[in-house]
Amino acid sequence: MSERVVESPARLRSANWFGENDLRSMSRRAYVRAEGFTRSIFDGKPVVGVCNSWSELTTCNAHLRQVAEAVKRGVWAAGGFPMEFPTISLGEQLMMPTTMLYRNLMAMDVEECIRAYPLDSVVLLCGCDKTTPAQIMGALSADEPAIVVPGGPMLRGMLRGEAIGSGTDTRRFWHNRRAGLVSDEEWCEIESCIARSAGHCMVMGTASTMTSMAEALGLTLPGAANIPAADSRRLAIAEESGKRAVELALEGLRPSKIVTNEALENAIRVDMAIGGSTNAIIHLVAIAGRAGISLPLETFDRISRSTPFITNIKPSGAYLMEDMYYAGGLPAVMKELSASLHLEALTVTGKTVSENVAGARCFNREVIKPVDKPLFPEGGTVILKGNLAPCGAVIKQTAVSPHLQEHKGKAVVFENYSDMMARVDAADLAVDETSVLVLKNGGPKGAPGMPEWGDMPVPAKLLKAGVRDMVRISDARMSGTAYGTVVLHVSPESAAGGPLAVVQDGDSIELDVHERRLELLVPEAELKRRLASWRPPAPHFQRGYGKMFLDHILQAHEGCDFDFLLPANSSSH
Ligand code: FES
Repeated sequence: MSERVVESPARLRSANWFGENDLRSMSRRAYVRAEGFTRSIFDGKPVVGVCNSWSELTTCNAHLRQVAEAVKRGVWAAGGFPMEFPTISLGEQLMMPTTMLYRNLMAMDVEECIRAYPLDSVVLLCGCDKTTPAQIMGALSADEPAIVVPGGPMLRGMLRGEAIGSGTDTRRFWHNRRAGLVSDEEWCEIESCIARSAGHCMVMGTASTMTSMAEALGLTLPGAANIPAADSRRLAIAEESGKRAVELALEGLRPSKIVTNEALENAIRVDMAIGGSTNAIIHLVAIAGRAGISLPLETFDRISRSTPFITNIKPSGAYLMEDMYYAGGLPAVMKELSASLHLEALTVTGKTVSENVAGARCFNREVIKPVDKPLFPEGGTVILKGNLAPCGAVIKQTAVSPHLQEHKGKAVVFENYSDMMARVDAADLAVDETSVLVLKNGGPKGAPGMPEWGDMPVPAKLLKAGVRDMVRISDARMSGTAYGTVVLHVSPESAAGGPLAVVQDGDSIELDVHERRLELLVPEAELKRRLASWRPPAPHFQRGYGKMFLDHILQAHEGCDFDFLLPANSSSH
């Protein structure tokens, strides 16, 4: 790729800042030179912004300063001038109450920095869950040439010779600990070895899914998503991406030319084949919205029905992202899916998907299965509809217990998260393994910010009796590292007056994953009566960003973007 011959630009965007000999241009040049640069090193050169979500608070992105250095040497080598800049960063582990409250804020930060500074192209450095969609959303709205460089997953966790995955196995050990099966000493040992290198969670959680989505959309160099953070090839591809960013600046290839309907369908198909995080649905709808493209939930379900699940990675499989990379990574998955992808979709390389994956190979058929011998005949995630979720709900069918695929049970209702935490382990909670746990007020407005509360804890007394899964329903999200028979993103949410708001203890609920149905078995007249007497909860915020969030947040099936951030001519909402 570094061998490409590029055209001379008519005029770089940065020339609007530096290109004249008047007072303003001279002052701007002078202040760049104040950083110690000579004029010749930047004058007339493509300025490449390195948009860095590095932060010690975002632990998964804490190594991105090193990645940025690799990007910059690529920019220098290709004759550009790199300028690194920070934005707000969203760290899944340390940020309260949830990073989802701030995804749109980060997207606005990224968009406005790209727009306001003298950048001819931008390299987006991301990793932890929300940092990837936030950067893509912002870059799409700014629509200057952009390329994504993910920070990569951690190496496998390793416990007494067993490979373990962050999030997924943490939960398994936690369930066992609550059942009295894990000692203090073992718990301490797990803490020391489950996250043992730089990088983001190394299961197919939201971070691995969204960086894979960036690649499937055509926004990264081929193979960039899955290289472990600690692998030297991570820095090598960052360097190559820096070189490519200079070419992008000169070619003027914008994200809006790449993120098309076809690219989005490719991304959804890959998402289904890799058993991606349920969160990907919200983020892809939001990304599409920024491109002015309508992406109804039905599209996900249609593609899910015709896409085999072929990637044997936790939480829906057995291996970890390091294994995925050694098996050929996302290019091998896309090669496997070739017959059903839009192969002519343009990518950030300037080439098509077909050209990018032409040389891809699978090196481990235990990890990446052939499409004719899949792990599951359909995609990982499906969309449910019914009177309990008129605008849709989501379930990861590859993580559902087989005996709960079709289930009817009595609701055990928690009014909010505090209520659930206070009562779920109570000895007198009227619950058994056939019950359906229902959590209200976990959605965008109700929580607020739609936290990952959806995989509600199985009550301790059932855990001790050997129960490890039961049907759980909420308007919240779930960590991509989690698993179980968990219905998420019920829309409209309870705090917006969706039917979830009026479910009562003892109501019968029916889930049928195969039929894609979620029904509250209450007579229609009774449901109408309950809804008519429902009153919204008091808003969580009266001022500041929180108030803006509550006033403008869209529902889950609309991508949870702010209404005013969609393009004026958007057909999506
Ligand atoms: Fe950052 Fe899991 S905590 S990706």
